[in-house]
Amino acid sequence: MSIIRSVVAGCGSYLPARIVTNQEMTTIVDTTDDWIVERTGIHERRIAAEGEFTSHLALNAAKAAIADAGIDAQEIDTIILATTTPDQTFPATAVTVQMGLGIHHGAAFDVQAVCSGFIYALTIADTFIRCGQAKTVLVIGAETFTRLLDWTDRTTCVLFGDGAGAVVLTAGEGEGTTADRGILTAHLHSDGRLKEKLYVDGGPSTTQTTGHVRMEGREVFRHAVVNIADTINEALAATGLTAADIDWFVPHQANKRILDGTAKRIGLPPEKVVITVGQHGNTSAASVPLALDTAIKDGRIKRGDLVLLEAMGGGFTWGSVLLRW
Ligand code: UT7
Repeated sequence: MSIIRSVVAGCGSYLPARIVTNQEMTTIVDTTDDWIVERTGIHERRIAAEGEFTSHLALNAAKAAIADAGIDAQEIDTIILATTTPDQTFPATAVTVQMGLGIHHGAAFDVQAVCSGFIYALTIADTFIRCGQAKTVLVIGAETFTRLLDWTDRTTCVLFGDGAGAVVLTAGEGEGTTADRGILTAHLHSDGRLKEKLYVDGGPSTTQTTGHVRMEGREVFRHAVVNIADTINEALAATGLTAADIDWFVPHQANKRILDGTAKRIGLPPEKVVITVGQHGNTSAASVPLALDTAIKDGRIKRGDLVLLEAMGGGFTWGSVLLRW
């Protein structure tokens, strides 16, 4: 049986130029390189320059993904941008990116699911393609997350960074089996009962300010490992595949200990886990495509490989996408 599959045609990413090392963080808050590395695996993060906005990072990543896909930007009929740090409350940052690409047709909109944003955006894009609503979708995760940080709070400000990643998804044909290229299954979840564990203490409707990130790290950690393992098992059950079939695990890059714990829980060997958190910290919605692009460009992920993506973030929100490259 012939079915429509959403195939990744290209991938790209962008990190701002300014590197802030753990050593530099010790001049800002009471912390040490040892503490940050031991508890999180983070060595450095990037911070966007003054006047450099989420749309700028997104546009750079988008251009790289379009070039990698070898398509003309005009072929894109939908742009979905996941971000928690839009340039403005409105219009959507996706529309600014659309304009930057010289596209004046189709739809462009933002998705807000914090660190799970890219997984949410990819799932929406897949649904659009499979139901015939779109043919070529640019999916972006982009953040200037450091602009939400309280630089006096050492429990959060050492963790996050800025960056962007993007993929171009195109409509392809498959046989309806797990041997098909493209997205094989996608699963999304949210549960607001624990929203106070990770949130921003401001917003247009409540305080008319942007607010700062607040997190009970230990609680988030505890739920992250369980929720992520659950959604991975859900993806495997939906496809009849097993952990042994997975070639590459590309998780949300929040904390190396969470990634190690999750891999262990589902029985994945450490060498199959793509870990880039050390180089850019937690970049929220940008982290999955940043890690994905790294493993593609360095030759680890090859055509035909089975790739598992997942994320968990504020809300809580979490989800997984299983695809064949
Ligand atoms: O992307 C969205 C999802 N977010 C996450 O997945 C983050 C999940 N949570 C985590 O990654 C970890 O919980 C953290 C990295 C945030 C914290 O690690 P932890 O091992 O859970 O540490 P903790 O919060 O239990 O704190 C341990 C100690 C505390 O001191 P006391 O109370 O034991 O004296 C903290 O005050 O470490 C202290 N501490 C620090 N020390 C040096 C907290 N932040 C720092 C710091 N430098 N930056």
